[in-house]
Amino acid sequence: MSRITVDGLTKHYGETVALNDVSFEIPSGEFVIVLGVSGSGKSTLLRCMNGLTPITSGEVRIDGTPVTQPRNDTAMIFQQHNIIGQLSAYGNALTGALNRNGFLQSILQFQSQADKYQALQALETVGLLDEARQRASQMSGGQQQRVGIARALVQNPDIMLADEPVASLDPGSAQQVMGYLRTAAERRGLTSVSSLHQVNLARKFGERFIGLRDGEKVFDGYRDEVTMDVIDEIYGDIDTEGMFAETDEDTESEATA
Ligand SMILES: Nc1ncnc2c1ncn2[C@@H]1O[C@H](COP(=O)(O)OP(=O)(O)O)[C@@H](O)[C@H]1O
Ligand SMILES: [Mg+2]
Repeated sequence: MSRITVDGLTKHYGETVALNDVSFEIPSGEFVIVLGVSGSGKSTLLRCMNGLTPITSGEVRIDGTPVTQPRNDTAMIFQQHNIIGQLSAYGNALTGALNRNGFLQSILQFQSQADKYQALQALETVGLLDEARQRASQMSGGQQQRVGIARALVQNPDIMLADEPVASLDPGSAQQVMGYLRTAAERRGLTSVSSLHQVNLARKFGERFIGLRDGEKVFDGYRDEVTMDVIDEIYGDIDTEGMFAETDEDTESEATA
């Protein structure tokens, strides 16, 4: 169980104000998507939540405890699924146990039966059990990102943070990965925060949304509340057309049009 509190969070990089007085509460088990254009502060927010970036002022708390450094109960998934190409999907998933067991034990392959079982279970959760022995380098981008999710699950987290986990994927793979992310979070009861820039994908998979613009929180609400006005508020005048062609339905209707 993990409740996240972001309280007056402000982050400056020199003159740049990346986040300005951002506050919100996420109850345990909620699936939250952070929306915003490039440069709006999404990555900074997630990095502050994971203790990867020092905070200028304000606080992030998990179950009341301030976050000051990366925590073992918080798993992070990045856009560049930094998995190890030479290892199998299974081998990569197993490296998620590294935090628990220490590096030496992991490279010496003293993994416990429990860890091995967990790695297979995590691959099953992301639909890759049949591909467990396949080399990661031979997998598609979407499959590699699913391996990244499996590895995060093997960490046994309570919280999962994902920074644009589908940004480098084609629309079909992006949907699939978001679907697995959501399922994994639900199955494990994780508190989950992902950043996305595609509105349609966000609306399809998100439960609650936080909108950032120029480092400020401009929206915080649930799916029904994400109206066109809200989208304008988050995205401003930029052309959002491309962001709406991200689901299968759209692709299909375009193809048949
Ligand atoms: N390490 C850094 N050093 C200096 N400026 C940064 C750094 N990281 C991010 N920024 C700036 O902070 C702002 C927010 O960036 P970021 O959090 O990466 O936004 P997003 O993830 O939404 O694209 C941008 O103006 C960006 O240029
Ligand atoms: Mg970013």
